[in-house]
Amino acid sequence: MIRPLANLLVTGGAGFIGSAFIRRVLAAQPAMKIVDLDVLTYAGNLDNLADVDPARHVFVRGDIADGALIERLVDEHRIDTIVHFAAESHVDRSIHGPAEFIQTNVLGTMRLLDVVRARPSVHFHHISTDEVYGSLPLGEGVFTEATPYQPNSPYAASKAASDHLVRAWARTYKLSVTTSHASNNYGPYQFPEKLIPLMIANCIEGKPLPVYGDGKNVRDWLHVDDHADAVWEILQRGASGEVYDVGGGNEWANLDLVHCLCDQFAAARGEPASKYRGLITFVTDRPGHDLRYAIAGDKIADQLGWRPKYDFETGLRATIDWYLANPTWIARVKTGAYREWITKHYGA
Ligand code: NAD
Ligand code: TYD
Repeated sequence: MIRPLANLLVTGGAGFIGSAFIRRVLAAQPAMKIVDLDVLTYAGNLDNLADVDPARHVFVRGDIADGALIERLVDEHRIDTIVHFAAESHVDRSIHGPAEFIQTNVLGTMRLLDVVRARPSVHFHHISTDEVYGSLPLGEGVFTEATPYQPNSPYAASKAASDHLVRAWARTYKLSVTTSHASNNYGPYQFPEKLIPLMIANCIEGKPLPVYGDGKNVRDWLHVDDHADAVWEILQRGASGEVYDVGGGNEWANLDLVHCLCDQFAAARGEPASKYRGLITFVTDRPGHDLRYAIAGDKIADQLGWRPKYDFETGLRATIDWYLANPTWIARVKTGAYREWITKHYGA
């Protein structure tokens, strides 16, 4: 069955992954228009969507916890599908301030589900993370859709809670839902707080490259465009009630990744790698730091035929080149100049 997708509401479409999804879908589907609801936190940036046709991108600044607003948008735009990306998404921030994670990731998701509860013809796709499964030992085992939940950070716990709400609302109120758990994404337009864009931004500025602990923690890296394509496949052909894990098949220990990034950055600038490797600084480990994430990915490959297309080293080099070519973007998201623009256009 191919699900008819006519009128999409995307939440969090000004963020890193949501904006990649919108850019890709609008480029591939010339007849489609997308309503994008985003409150524009520090991580939301309309520059990410500067290249899309404004007539086909209906941007609404608002909070997913505002049930009345969501009801109005769904009814006014005859929404048939909600793709829910909006979240507080950074583990380190969740350690310092968990409350916003519960507010947006848990309560916000519930508000959206309640709107769908009253409109059960709307399909709801929930974007989740592999971090809900907890941590794997080095070199042993992979996450599958059947792996029990063992979230270890406030971020992961808030995403796990939202996953449970999606499942429970679907079972109890007979809603049409799908959920995907992706591994660590990378690519252009990622806020420079996550590992890869932070390291690139610090290379550009000649600042230390902070590696937590001994740098042996492993992540599975997925290019954001591969993720966007996987979500599109699930929306179209994913069975209602099903959960799909989406991995990059690219496991890297953090220190190896940072070495590779330094070497590629140096090559892009025609400089010696030692200049950037010399910036690596080992810093105090993150509390509760998950050791390893890895995704099997068999279900989405077998059932929907989706596999990641990006080779990691090529994708990383293209990402470095993008950041080098876009210093204004980095400056705007880092200095707060963009916040002033938001206040001017939308109020505080
Ligand atoms: P991001 O932090 O770059 O963007 C989040 C977006 O949500 C921002 O535009 C922000 O303004 C918006 N937002 C936050 N709170 C909101 C609210 N209350 N109402 C409306 N909008 C709000 O995040 P991202 O990296 O693009 O992640 C998107 C989704 O993918 C999240 O659900 C995240 O948990 C999930 N995910 C991320 C990764 C990753 O590596 N980044 C991996 C797997 C899953
Ligand atoms: P991050 O990008 O924050 O993603 P997540 O914690 O959701 O996996 O971090 C990826 C890995 O990189 C994680 O093991 C923590 C580590 N890390 C550092 O070593 N230094 C840093 O400055 C950051 C932000 C992350």
